[in-house]
Amino acid sequence: MGRALMQTTLFGLLLTLVTSLPNKDDWDIYSFHINSTVTSRYATTVITSRMANRMNESKEVEFQVRIPKNAFISKFRMFMDGQVYDGVVKTKEQAQQQYTAAVSRGQSAGLVSSVGRTLEEFKTSVTVAAHQKVTFELTYEELLKRRHGKYELQIHARPMQPVSDFKVDVYIDEKAGISFLEVKGGLSTKALANAITKTLTDKQAWVYFYPTESQQKTCDSCGEQGMNGDLVIVYDVKRDISVGDIKASGGYFVHHFAPSSLPRIPKNVVFVIDQSGSMSGRKIQQTRTALIHILNDLNEDDFFGLITFDGDIFHWKRELVQATKTNVNSAKTFAQNIPASGSTDINAAVLEGARILKAHPREGSAWILILLTDGDPTSGVTNLKKIQSNVRKAVAGKFPLYCLGFGFRVNFEFLEKMSLQNNGVARRIYEDSDADLQLKGFYEEVATPLLTNVTMMYTGGTNLTQTHFTQYYNGSEIVVAGQITDNDIETFTPEVIAISGTGSVRFSDTNPTVESTDTVSDRRLQRVWAYLSVKQLLDKALQLSGPEKDRMREEALKLSLKYSFVTSLTSMVVTKPEGDNSDVLHKPKEGQMQPNPGSSARYSSAGRSRGVGYSHVPTRKEIHGFPVHFGRAGAHAHLLHIEEEASLLIRPQYKMGPDLRTRLSTVVTSADLLVADPVVHRFLIKTENQSLPLCFNVPGDTRLKLLHHPSEELSVFGHLDSIKDRGFKIIGIHLKNGQFVEITTVGISVRQSSGDMRSFERNLVSPDITVTGRDKEFDVAVGDTRMVVLIHEVDGNKFLWPVLRQKPSDNNIDGILVLKPAVYEELQQSPSTKLKIRDQEIGVTRSSAVDYSISAAPTLDCWFMSAESALQRRLDDFTVAKF
Ligand SMILES: *[C@@H]1O[C@H](CO)[C@@H](O)[C@H](O)[C@H]1NC(C)=O
Ligand SMILES: *[C@@H]1O[C@H](CO)[C@@H](O)[C@H](O)[C@H]1NC(C)=O
Ligand SMILES: *[C@@H]1O[C@H](CO)[C@@H](O)[C@H](O)[C@H]1NC(C)=O
Ligand SMILES: *[C@@H]1O[C@H](CO)[C@@H](O)[C@H](O)[C@H]1NC(C)=O
Ligand SMILES: *[C@@H]1O[C@H](CO)[C@@H](O)[C@H](O)[C@H]1NC(C)=O
Ligand SMILES: *[C@@H]1O[C@H](CO)[C@@H](O)[C@H](O)[C@H]1NC(C)=O
Repeated sequence: MGRALMQTTLFGLLLTLVTSLPNKDDWDIYSFHINSTVTSRYATTVITSRMANRMNESKEVEFQVRIPKNAFISKFRMFMDGQVYDGVVKTKEQAQQQYTAAVSRGQSAGLVSSVGRTLEEFKTSVTVAAHQKVTFELTYEELLKRRHGKYELQIHARPMQPVSDFKVDVYIDEKAGISFLEVKGGLSTKALANAITKTLTDKQAWVYFYPTESQQKTCDSCGEQGMNGDLVIVYDVKRDISVGDIKASGGYFVHHFAPSSLPRIPKNVVFVIDQSGSMSGRKIQQTRTALIHILNDLNEDDFFGLITFDGDIFHWKRELVQATKTNVNSAKTFAQNIPASGSTDINAAVLEGARILKAHPREGSAWILILLTDGDPTSGVTNLKKIQSNVRKAVAGKFPLYCLGFGFRVNFEFLEKMSLQNNGVARRIYEDSDADLQLKGFYEEVATPLLTNVTMMYTGGTNLTQTHFTQYYNGSEIVVAGQITDNDIETFTPEVIAISGTGSVRFSDTNPTVESTDTVSDRRLQRVWAYLSVKQLLDKALQLSGPEKDRMREEALKLSLKYSFVTSLTSMVVTKPEGDNSDVLHKPKEGQMQPNPGSSARYSSAGRSRGVGYSHVPTRKEIHGFPVHFGRAGAHAHLLHIEEEASLLIRPQYKMGPDLRTRLSTVVTSADLLVADPVVHRFLIKTENQSLPLCFNVPGDTRLKLLHHPSEELSVFGHLDSIKDRGFKIIGIHLKNGQFVEITTVGISVRQSSGDMRSFERNLVSPDITVTGRDKEFDVAVGDTRMVVLIHEVDGNKFLWPVLRQKPSDNNIDGILVLKPAVYEELQQSPSTKLKIRDQEIGVTRSSAVDYSISAAPTLDCWFMSAESALQRRLDDFTVAKF
C-alpha cells in the first residue's frame, strides 16, 4: 500500500517536472555580462543576465551558469516588474523545510550541482509574464590559490544562446605589482582570440572579452547555442624576499607569503601505489607513465621509496634509497612493470610507506608520503575509522600525507579526511586521457620544498586563520588572515619562523610595509578572512569528531550566515514572485553528480530527478530572423536630441581611398600647434610588456580617423573637443550602404542613404550595426568589430572616448585605434632620456597621461614625445577636415 502510493507520487513528480520544464525557445537573452574584480587575489565575480519572455503568454525562463567549485555564492538577486527578489542564505535545516515543501509540491530543488573537474552549476527559473523582462544577478567570491607559480581566474561563459550584448570585464588590482598576465582557455582561441583585449600596467590589469554574436557560434566548443567554454586569466604578482605582502584595512589583515629565492630542501619521498584489479587498463598505464616522469624529475640528493599494493605489498626496495641514476633507472623498470590485479589493502600499504620514511631520518630534509588509490579498502583492515587512526599514529605529525583518488569509485571523503588529519591534502584524479598529466602536475606542486615547519606569528594580531604549515613548496603560497587588535597598525608586527635548506630562518621586517587602506567601508579583507576561516573550519570539522567537530561546524555556520556564503552548511533560498515556488540552492559535495553518470550509481545527487526531466527537453530551434530589440528606449524611441552639427550632416562625398590623404590634408604639424594653441588632448600608445607607454598631444578641435576597415566598408571618426581635457564630443561611423551613425554623450542618431534621419537615446539595432547604451558607455558592434565608446565625466562635463574591444581580423585596417603596441629601447637615463624607436633616436621627457580607454581613467606615467615620433607617421595621416 505504502509502496504503491510512493510510486504514484514519484511518477506524478516526474510528470510535473517534464511538463513544467522551461523551453529555451520561449525567451531571449538580450544581455549577458560577467564582471570580475580581483583585489589581492580575492575575486568577486558578478554574472548579470537579462532575459525577456518573447511569447505572448506567461513562460518560465531559466538562468543557468557555471562557477568555480572553490567559490562561495554570496548573493543572488532577481529584478522583475520593478521588484527585487533577494536570495537569502539560511541554515540547511531552515532551508530544508522550504526544500521539502517545494519537493512535495513537485517543484525542483537542490539546484547547484557539480559539473566536471572545477565547476558547479547554478540553476534557477522564474515565471515571466508575456513580453516582460527579468534580470538575474549572481555574485560569487573566491580566494585564488597559487599553484605552479601562478594564479588562475577561471570564467566559464555559457549563456545558452548567442547574445548580442555579451561581455566579460575583468579588473585585477595587485598592490604588490603584477609580474605577468596571460589569457588562456578554450575561448581564447581561433575566431575569439581577437575579441580579447588586455591592458597591463605595473599594478593593475584589465581584460575585456567582447565577442560578436556570430563569433559566439564559432569557437571550438561553441555552436548554435552559443559559447560554452572557459576564459582563464593567469597571472602572478611580484614579490620580495622579506616577510611578504601584507594588507590591512578595517581592522583586518591578509598576509601573503611566498618567497621563491630560497634553496630547495632535499626530500625523502615514498610513493604508495594501488595496483589492485580495478586499476587495470588505462589507469595503470597512465600511472606508470606519470611515475616514470616523476622519477626522472627527482634530484640526485633526494631519497625515495616505491611500493605497490593490492592485498599484498610489493617493494621495489625495502628502504629509502638515494635518487642516483642507477636507482632511478631500476625504479623506472619496476614502475614500467606494475601489474594490476587483486584486492586493496590501504592500511598495510600506508603503514609500510610510513615505516620506510621513518626508518631513514635524514637531517635537513623534507619528508613526503604520497598515496595513489582508486578504490576502497577491501582486504586487511577495512574499517575506515580504524585505518585513519592507524595511519595517524604511524605518521605522528612528522610529515604530510597526500592522497590521490583516481576516478569516482574511491571514497574521496575518506581520503580527504586522512590527508587533512596528516597535514596533507587530497586530490581527485579524473579518469581521462590526461590523467598522467594530472598526476605529474600534482607531484610538481610538492616537488620543491623550500621551507619546513613554518610558523607565522603576528604580534598585535588576533582571530588568526591557520598559522602553522608543515611544508612550503616553491610555486605555492601561504595565506594568513586575521584581525588587528584595536586596529593598531603601529604595534602590528608579523614574523615568520621556519627551517630552510640552510637551517633555521626568520623573516621579519623591523618596518614592514603594511599597506593600509583605512576605509571602514572597504570590507574586502574582512571577507577574505571570513572565506579562509570558513574553508579551514570546514576542513577541521571533517578531521574531527564529537563535540570538537560540532564546535567547528557551528563556528563555520555562524560565519557563513554572517557573510552570506553558500557552503556545505548553508543553503540559499530564492524567493520568487507570488505564484512561483522558492528554490533552495545547496552547495554540492565533491564527487556528487558525476560528469559521467552510469559509471557508478553510488554518488547520485539530489539533482537527479531534474536530470531525468532534462532528457525530454526538445533541442532548441533556431528562430533568429532579425535581431529583436529590447532596449530601454526600444523601438518606440523618439527623437531626443540632435546637435546642430549633426542635423547638417550630409552623406559623405568621398570614398576612403589612397588619395584621401592628399585631398583631406589639414592641420599643420602638431609641434606648431602646441605653441599656437594650448588646447591639446593627450594620447597614449601602450607597450606589450610593462615598460612605460608613449604619450603625445593632439590639438583640440581635430577630427581624427579612428578606424578604417575597408572590407567592411567601415570608417570611424572622432571629433575632439575644442576645450582642454574634454576628449571627443562626437564619434561618427560610416557604414556600408551610405549609412552614417553619430554618437554623442546624449544619444545616437542614424542617417540612412535616403536622407532619413532617426535618433535613439540609448540603443540601436539594425542589420548593419548594434549600439547598446549603458550608464557609462555605448557598446558598438559592426561585423567582426566591437568598439566601446566610454562616457567620461570630469568636473560635471561629459565626453566620449572610443576604445576598440575587438580588433577586426583584416590586416588592412588603419587608424588611431589600431596602432601597433609601441616597441622601443631606452638609451640613456640622464640628463635626458632618449628612446630608440625603429632606427630613430628620440629625446623624451617623463610625463603622465590619463588613460581614458579604461572607464576608471587611471593616470599612467609615460614617455612624452611629438605625435609624429610616437606615431612614426605624420599626424596628418590620421586627421580629416570633416567626417
Ligand atoms: C564591475 O564591478 C566593480 C566592483 O563591483 C564595479 O566597480 C564596476 O563598475 C563593475 N564594472 C562594470 C563594467 O559593470
Ligand atoms: C498568442 O499568439 C498566437 C499566435 O501567435 C495567437 O493564436 C494567440 O491567440 C495569442 N494569445 C494571446 C493571449 O494573445
Ligand atoms: C622556484 O621557482 C622560481 C620560479 O617560479 C625559480 O626561479 C626558482 O629557481 C625556483 N627555486 C628552486 C629552488 O627551484
Ligand atoms: C617546529 O616549530 C615549533 C615552533 O616554532 C617547534 O616547537 C617545533 O619543535 C618545531 N618542530 C620541528 C620538527 O623542528
Ligand atoms: C575575535 O576574537 C575576540 C577575542 O580575542 C572575540 O571576542 C571575538 O568574538 C572574535 N571575533 C570573531 C569574529 O570571531
Ligand atoms: C619590453 O620590450 C622591449 C623590447 O622588446 C625591451 O627592450 C624592454 O626591456 C622590455 N621591457 C620590460 C619591462 O620587459
